[in-house]
Amino acid sequence: MADLPSPSQLSALMRHRRSIKPVDLDAARGVERALLTQILEDATWAPTHGLTEPWKFIVHQGAARQRLAETMQRVYRDTTPAHEFREDKMKKMSENPLLAPVIIACVMERRGGAKIPEIEEIEAVACALQNLQLSATAAGLGCYWSSPPLLGTREFADWLGIGSEDKCVGLIYLGWPRAGLNWPRSVRQPVETKTLWRDD
Ligand SMILES: Cc1cc2nc3c(=O)[nH]c(=O)nc-3n(C[C@H](O)[C@H](O)[C@H](O)COP(=O)(O)O)c2cc1C
Repeated sequence: MADLPSPSQLSALMRHRRSIKPVDLDAARGVERALLTQILEDATWAPTHGLTEPWKFIVHQGAARQRLAETMQRVYRDTTPAHEFREDKMKKMSENPLLAPVIIACVMERRGGAKIPEIEEIEAVACALQNLQLSATAAGLGCYWSSPPLLGTREFADWLGIGSEDKCVGLIYLGWPRAGLNWPRSVRQPVETKTLWRDD
């Protein structure tokens, strides 16, 4: 029998995971490559229809974060209609990638052809990203899934170098929580409000 966490340990991990914004990470403290690799490997143990494993992780660290920030600003400026453009969003795009030591662009790489619907490939990547976040949380890291609309633009996809059928489904900001951070609290609706039992 594998050395599994108890149900209560797993439940505690899932409930402990929170979105930790870049401003609450320690920008000066990098994450060791071995730990990042382990977390990414955990991500790949997600279920996937047809075992297509439709994920690709593009990991930005060091100076690559500055190039990511500049690209996000350029694409936001070039693709946002004037009436939707917001200076505060531009500013965040220049700041956030430098506040986190690691930013992972998470891509759905279309592998299943016509046999597997696109949505199932995206769902598989979402499963992988939850694995990733739980693994990072268990290691004591903070992480946060960001999905600005510009991720869906051809300009950003071209910069990432992904194929015409591939989709960047999120940026995961990752790092050690800054000293003194009060771990955020959250709430969920009672599960009864989301459940319909049909027993008879
Ligand atoms: C698919 C997906 C996309 C998300 N995109 C964003 C985003 O663009 N900006 C943001 O602030 N949070 C984003 N989040 C994080 C949610 O805001 C966060 O999970 C939610 O507020 C619940 O907080 P918790 O993660 O701490 O439980 C995203 C989460 C998911 C699953």
